[in-house]
Amino acid sequence: MSRGLTSKLAQSAENPLAMTSEDLPLPDPSIREPVLEVAALTRSYSVHGRTKERLVANDRISLRLYPGEVVAILGPNGAGKTTLLRQLGGLLLPTSGTIRVAGVDMIAQPTRAKQFLSVIPQECQPIESLTVEEHVRYFGLLKGLERWTARTEVQGILEQVGLGRYRDTLVRELSGGLKRRVLFAVALCGAGARVLLLDEPTTGLDPEARRSVWKVIDGLRARRIGILLTTHYIEEAEYLADRLAILNRGKIAAQGTVDEVRHALPYRGRLDIRGIDHGSAEARRAVELLERRWKTAVRTNGHARFEIPDPFSPETIAELANLTNLGLQASLSPVSLEDVYLSVVGALGEGNGA
Ligand SMILES: Nc1ncnc2c1ncn2[C@@H]1O[C@H](COP(=O)(O)OP(=O)(O)OP(=O)(O)O)[C@@H](O)[C@H]1O
Ligand SMILES: [Mg+2]
Repeated sequence: MSRGLTSKLAQSAENPLAMTSEDLPLPDPSIREPVLEVAALTRSYSVHGRTKERLVANDRISLRLYPGEVVAILGPNGAGKTTLLRQLGGLLLPTSGTIRVAGVDMIAQPTRAKQFLSVIPQECQPIESLTVEEHVRYFGLLKGLERWTARTEVQGILEQVGLGRYRDTLVRELSGGLKRRVLFAVALCGAGARVLLLDEPTTGLDPEARRSVWKVIDGLRARRIGILLTTHYIEEAEYLADRLAILNRGKIAAQGTVDEVRHALPYRGRLDIRGIDHGSAEARRAVELLERRWKTAVRTNGHARFEIPDPFSPETIAELANLTNLGLQASLSPVSLEDVYLSVVGALGEGNGA
């Protein structure tokens, strides 16, 4: 082992954030300049057959992405995720707003800005008849990889995305998860990728294949690439994202860390009580009293769900014990990201006619 690497490993034992690899040219981690900065981005489409009517697919979206960070845009079908990514990738002109990639204005200097970007579009599939190496080299050369360095560079990239041993395998023989990794390898070809845009990178994959893609995305943080991904999957955003934004009907309804977004709701927990219909008069009376105290989210004959300010306060725990003593099945749970997501998507879904 070289002396340089030994001393870096020694540093890393004291400082878990220290780098342990010499072969990746990483930007200075102390620099906290966003690699992608989006302000008030708006895009509307003309509605087919109705000349004056326009659908606002992205409505004043602002966000930032820093090196080594994963930001997830979580939203249902039609929320405007692909519209957003197409604008960020320079494939669609915004109606208004600004996009800066590594400080470069995407609208004024699209060619230069795109040098820092790689995009994996929604439902993109690799070419099945090529081997893994042929595929990545072919697209690498198209992206400006030098012919004489291509073979070694491609091998390095294949190792990074866990495809090293599949180099000579035909793409059509790979599992769904490994096929997605081929797309990641192509996206990493070429010198300048500082931002990776992934439109639903795991849609259609089984849970195991999804996790194998998550592993690749996780690994890319160490290269200080900023990753912006879209997803329908709450657990994907929860697992991968340093920060996330919930997008619905073109608007960002909540954004921040998973904890910050979770706390966007005016309550912190839920109390579920079941078996009310079989309970004693005293038990039913206890539930009625709670209906006056806390907001009732669900109420059927047998089941009540209350939104409570603090699921772990001594008062709440005492209430839980009281309900259990009265013969009811009562349980407490903290607010989940899914609660926030459903409350945002459900609430807007009822009234917004965008
Ligand atoms: N080229 C277009 N012309 C007109 N309307 C469009 C166009 N592209 C998208 N839309 C509309 O804009 C809205 C947002 O679409 P978009 O594809 O961005 O959503 P999405 O969040 O990516 O959905 P999905 O999860 O299904 O991929 C939808 O109402 C869609 O019908
Ligand atoms: Mg889409």
